[in-house]
Amino acid sequence: MRVMKLEGKSGTCQIVLGEGLENLLSHCSGNKVVVVTDSNVKRFYGERIVKAGVGADSIIEIGLGEGNKTLDTTCEVYRKLLELEIDRSCVIVGIGGGIVCDVSGFVASTYMRGIEFGFVPTTLLAQVDASIGGKNGVNLDGYKNIVGSIRQPKFCLCNFDVLKTLPREELKCGFAEVIKHAAIGNAELFAYLEANTERAMALHRTTIEKIVHDSIVVKVNIVKKDEFEKGERMKLNFGHTLGHAIERETGLSHGKAVAIGMVAAAKLSVAKGLLGEKDAERLEKLIEAYGLPTKTTDKGKLLEAMKKDKKRLGKKIRMALLEGIGSARIVEVGINELEGVLDG
Ligand SMILES: NC(=O)c1ccc[n+]([C@@H]2O[C@H](COP(=O)([O-])OP(=O)(O)OC[C@H]3O[C@@H](n4cnc5c(N)ncnc54)[C@H](O)[C@@H]3O)[C@@H](O)[C@H]2O)c1
Repeated sequence: MRVMKLEGKSGTCQIVLGEGLENLLSHCSGNKVVVVTDSNVKRFYGERIVKAGVGADSIIEIGLGEGNKTLDTTCEVYRKLLELEIDRSCVIVGIGGGIVCDVSGFVASTYMRGIEFGFVPTTLLAQVDASIGGKNGVNLDGYKNIVGSIRQPKFCLCNFDVLKTLPREELKCGFAEVIKHAAIGNAELFAYLEANTERAMALHRTTIEKIVHDSIVVKVNIVKKDEFEKGERMKLNFGHTLGHAIERETGLSHGKAVAIGMVAAAKLSVAKGLLGEKDAERLEKLIEAYGLPTKTTDKGKLLEAMKKDKKRLGKKIRMALLEGIGSARIVEVGINELEGVLDG
């Protein structure tokens, strides 16, 4: 079992790798626990959650998918917390993927002006990314994560066995964020991902443990420097500027949209003379090797979206680009330049 700490201004999170669900209550300081989860995760792990000591009536279920990451869902959870007479002495634990983490973290940050919370992330994407760093929030009118908070959970328990029930497409999406972390902050992890694709996709125990660990370390080190996203943290948006537009316009899942966004951002990095062509090719190959898309089939829709964004954002945006494998830089980019790389 490996333990890391993320000490931030908004709280300290203990990240425990390899922790079993059965030990959940030992992280909750004897306080009453209420779990927020979704129907899939409840189906697979509901019994284990109850066996761990959580009351069956203290499990709140939210709907599946990005369409449920809303203020309406948040209000439903608040009402259930009121029914259960949850107060500031209780702990909310989000057990599930990124959607459960984002919603439960936001609920816990706002209910009664903020109560304690922790996560048991059950998707690879949530383990390496969504549960780490303290960003919680929901979507509004098609804009992603536009309402939210930055507040660290008290704990984040990553169990690798739960990844075995994850659909393969979801696993691939998690690897998109792992590749992002390697690309922006750890060249050795990038090479490891290239050399161990099969073992990683097969969730070979020591391989996946190293990958999750190293990936989290990249994120933790960036968040420690810049918890409130004044500069350094923007590097974590590598692939996301375009990725969010792709997700919104084409309905592709987050991880797949980010994969396409990373390839486009790498092309832009080459065009700006920051990155060698060979490194951009390495990134594209790695993304392909993990079964992720590298191009959008819906370029027309996306170009339309970029034009709308131009009106909203102005002519220039700040974007994370690569200046080598394992190193990123924040650069001002014109929306026209983004349209250009989508063409190529
Ligand atoms: N807060 C952040 O810093 C941050 C960072 C990255 C992504 N995100 C957000 O995370 C969300 C995506 O998260 P996600 O990819 O985990 O999606 P998700 O939460 O929708 O989970 C994917 C699917 O897998 C199912 N599932 C979860 N765990 C399972 C398991 N162990 N076995 C079987 N099925 C399981 C879920 O029910 C769901 O159907 C997006 O909304 C994104 O914006 C947030």
